Amino acid sequence: MFLQNHWYAVAWDHEIAQKPFARTICGEDIVFYRKPDRSLVALEDVCPHRLLPLSEGRVEGEHIVCGYHGLTLDCTGSCVRMPQQDNLTQKKLVKAYPIAERHRFVWVWIGDAKAADEDLIPDLHWCSDPKWAFDGSTYHINCDYRLLIDNLMDLTHETYVHPTSIGQEEITEAPIETAADMENKTATVSRWMYNIDPPPFWSTNLKSTEKCDRWQICNFSLPANVMIDVGVALAGTGAPEGDRSHGVTGIVVDLMTPETETSTWYHWGMARDFEIHDQGLTLRIRNAQGAVFAEDEVVLEKQQQKMLELPDRRLANFAIDAGGVAARRIIDAELAKQQKPKTVDKAA
Ligand code: FES
Ligand SMILES: [Fe+2]
Repeated sequence: MFLQNHWYAVAWDHEIAQKPFARTICGEDIVFYRKPDRSLVALEDVCPHRLLPLSEGRVEGEHIVCGYHGLTLDCTGSCVRMPQQDNLTQKKLVKAYPIAERHRFVWVWIGDAKAADEDLIPDLHWCSDPKWAFDGSTYHINCDYRLLIDNLMDLTHETYVHPTSIGQEEITEAPIETAADMENKTATVSRWMYNIDPPPFWSTNLKSTEKCDRWQICNFSLPANVMIDVGVALAGTGAPEGDRSHGVTGIVVDLMTPETETSTWYHWGMARDFEIHDQGLTLRIRNAQGAVFAEDEVVLEKQQQKMLELPDRRLANFAIDAGGVAARRIIDAELAKQQKPKTVDKAA
């Protein structure tokens, strides 16, 4: 059920230091660390000797040392030292993963290492562009990553799950438009609310209580990323046509990294193009967003629990699910391709 040959967000860049950092990604146990020059290493998290996880050991210079008998591996997974053993062959004993650092996150490539290409890392330029402010955090959620995608591609739930913060009645009333691009493997759900009162968060940042046009545009891309373009502009100033000069924009960044079939590392944050030097605002947004997503966490974990109790029960889809259904269709098409046995070229 995990998509291969994709970059997955492992952690925030500051979370990985010169000590072992263990994380299971798409069912694969991986240990991460930094070398003294700050470059990153990702290895299969198991000592080839007696299978203690390498993450139980320590990092020494460029190498990782097993915490049981001291077997020492370099960044390629080759053994460079084993106590009492002189005739070491430099062969790779554990798998090394392609790893990269970009847009405030560390990324690991799951799949065929030869296919890893850093140009395929999702474009999250808002997260590292000085014209934007960005921060966020990570939640570990006990649910299938696809439930998070459903959740983020359907913001109707805001009215019911988040009534005291970002929910407002207009969200349920405004029509949504869904588009799936099977070729580019993306899906989009757009919702525009015209001439409405700005909710408190947006009215403060717009510095106006005048009527506004509000938008929520959810963009899904593989393997499990949802960027939500959100904002408000003074009503009738052209935002729907592309002129946001009388408005403020935020990009809600959601990177779902599957851990197991029923658990996910959910990296979330918000980039914004207003008051970018106000660090207090950055902190307040992060705290508020954290509280909102904690409300989702409760729903998602209970939903997953019920799904495990009722394995034969299918999910019913309604109009609001169009975005999630489109995203799942794209994921399913990729999974089917992955599972197809390779055909042998008889002419060869
Ligand atoms: S288990 Fe790692 S060196 Fe023995
Ligand atoms: Fe939510």
